[in-house]
Amino acid sequence: MNASAPILFFDSGVGGLSVLGPTRALLPNAPIVYAADSAGFPYGTKSEAELAERVPALLVKLAERFRPRLIVIACNTASTIALDHARAVIDVPVVGTVPAIKPAAELSRSRVIGVLGTEATVRQPYVDDLAARFAGDCALVRHGSPHLVNLAEAKLAGREIALDEVRAAIQPMVDAGPEMDVMVLACTHFPLLGAEISAAFPSIRQVDGAAGIARRIAFLTRGQEWPSSPPAGIAVFTAPPPAGLGQALAHFGLREIKLLGDEAD
Ligand code: DGL
Repeated sequence: MNASAPILFFDSGVGGLSVLGPTRALLPNAPIVYAADSAGFPYGTKSEAELAERVPALLVKLAERFRPRLIVIACNTASTIALDHARAVIDVPVVGTVPAIKPAAELSRSRVIGVLGTEATVRQPYVDDLAARFAGDCALVRHGSPHLVNLAEAKLAGREIALDEVRAAIQPMVDAGPEMDVMVLACTHFPLLGAEISAAFPSIRQVDGAAGIARRIAFLTRGQEWPSSPPAGIAVFTAPPPAGLGQALAHFGLREIKLLGDEAD
């Protein structure tokens, strides 16, 4: 394995940064390409058919362009719909992101768990399957919130987020299960609002899969060569990114910003 071969993270927008963070903590010298399908954003309101076609096609293009050692679909929506399709057409390991229902069920005392994702994710049979396997004795309240995805994007672009907006986006889920003591952040955008969600719902614990995915990436790349110091990461977008994002990207080590297909890159 060439030491400079990157790990490629993929999401519709900035959500995958919540997975990149713990991965960089474990693998500080890993070369990173972070790809955001800003032209296709948001994914959560799209159909299964559209995503099952779009995501693998884009990943093939990104793999040809950046030759990654491993791809992380750092998006629950894309993973629950298109992970198998992507694995079928790509010849490097592809790690997905699935709702952390198992750890949530292990933590819950009240046995009422919220699953907060996109509208597309919460309706997936994949979620039914996880619920049946790991949370059979729990009541699962599923809630899709496109607005919360937009709030996470806005926060990373430097906008001040009103706590009331975060509370209002989640309140219907809590009203549907007042005993809820754990919520699964089943969209990678939502841990980026973790502080705001805690402030709005201090008695409900949040669980997400990011740390587990980081450990999985470290496991799959064990023994491989890395550069001797942290290289500058690359952020690549499929349409011009929102203004104001540069600072957040730099915070995650992404210092170069490109447009996919831009011949000048
Ligand atoms: N970050 C994504 C997820 O984990 C999708 C957000 C969106 O584009 O709707 O589901």
